[in-house]
Amino acid sequence: MALPPGPRAPGIVNLLRFARRPLERLRAWRERYGDVVRVKLTGFGTGVYVADPDAIRELFTGEQSDLRAGEANSFMAPVLGAHSVLVLDGPEHMRQRKLLLPPFGGSRVAAFREVIREVAEREVAGWREGSTLVLRQRMRALTFEVICRAVFGVTESARVERLRELLGAVIDSSPIYMITPLARADLGPLSPGRRFARRLRAADEALYEEIRRRREQPDLEQRGDVLSLLLRARDEQGAAMSDGELRDELFTMLGAGHETTATALAFAFDLLLRHPAALARLREELERGEDDAYLDAVVKETLRLRPVIDAAERTLTQPRVVAGFELPAGVKVYPGIALVHMREDLYPRAHEFRPERFADAGAESYSWLPFGGGIRRCIGAALAQAEMAEVLRAIVPRVELRPLRERPDPVVLRGITLAPKHGVRVVVERVLQPPGSPSEGRGRKAAEVAA
Ligand code: HEM
Repeated sequence: MALPPGPRAPGIVNLLRFARRPLERLRAWRERYGDVVRVKLTGFGTGVYVADPDAIRELFTGEQSDLRAGEANSFMAPVLGAHSVLVLDGPEHMRQRKLLLPPFGGSRVAAFREVIREVAEREVAGWREGSTLVLRQRMRALTFEVICRAVFGVTESARVERLRELLGAVIDSSPIYMITPLARADLGPLSPGRRFARRLRAADEALYEEIRRRREQPDLEQRGDVLSLLLRARDEQGAAMSDGELRDELFTMLGAGHETTATALAFAFDLLLRHPAALARLREELERGEDDAYLDAVVKETLRLRPVIDAAERTLTQPRVVAGFELPAGVKVYPGIALVHMREDLYPRAHEFRPERFADAGAESYSWLPFGGGIRRCIGAALAQAEMAEVLRAIVPRVELRPLRERPDPVVLRGITLAPKHGVRVVVERVLQPPGSPSEGRGRKAAEVAA
């Protein structure tokens, strides 16, 4: 079995090059080695990137029993928990996934838009002329609150702040503790491992308390937040989710859904600010308020050009033919999200930000892949896109921002996501609508208020 061609450099060299400029590195590998590239990355083992949409379709829709995705995520289990849909495979994964999918369906997400708009309007109302913002940080605060309200169903601000403090303390410091078991070792009362365990316990207690409160809430049957829906959900055997499962999935949704969406939003602003014509067209459409075609296209084009996750990941448990190569068991296959998005045959002038490419036609399933695919496709895809659209709708008409850097933020690897190196720093040039003004927020009305 011959593995596909790929760079011969040691794994650590590949990893360092990749982490520094992931998109450029992927492009260079594909140009040199083709649509199927073998890469050794220290800490991740040998993987095979696939840039061919047909081969990716086969991976996402073909036989799944010899593909594992949870196994590759198992390093997250110490924080997300053993029941997390992200770390499970096989029937156990399917059980969690079937329980989690309905609360994230189209009609549910439509109901969350109002909550998102409120949170975003409150955020932008605090922005003052002349102030400097790191947009990725502001977006993280915002998407955290959206998860608290829409997913956890917690709206009381003191409780939101408490969760922000306790869960934030774990989420912010978790990558190092997830990746290095030694960092988690309890080496005495002052050791980092002991401190992390304490923080994790405090976060768990807060989540279990929310679960307990919700179970006792008299209006549980009428509530539409994800936690309430999960409390009412039953699996195929009629069994409800245990508190442990609920805790793990709440943590998972926060871990998978908060930073990713915030990063995607920061990228959206960075791209819009570098493309004044696109920004003007978006403003115009939002002012007209007739439809969201261009707004949705901006979201899609941002996720194409700046995918937050560069590749999905599947580990082979059996030999399998992938894109014509017979790969042995144990190899990781990476359906190359970013690689597909860079293909000139699918996206002419692929390196350019051109939302209009999505304005008339939708996105094709196997050429637009920011959320992966098949039985592991992102559960929060509709929520994330709604969130991006509503945040842009709330913020773009209200402020003029000026980027502090001359050129777009370089894309770097942060943990397992691609992120803007400097977090997208901007100055608030002009507030177009005074903070605290009526928050109808949509279309012509908002423009008139602003004028
Ligand atoms: C722009 C924001 C987001 C991006 C780019 C993103 C991307 C992804 C990707 C690429 C995967 C792996 C798919 C695969 O392996 O085929 C994934 C899985 C997942 N995402 Fe997201 N995601 C985002 C937001 C969210 C949100 C808001 C939530 C929930 C609140 C969420 C929850 C999940 C979960 C639970 C999984 C695991 C699904 C499974 O293993 O069955 N994500 N996401």
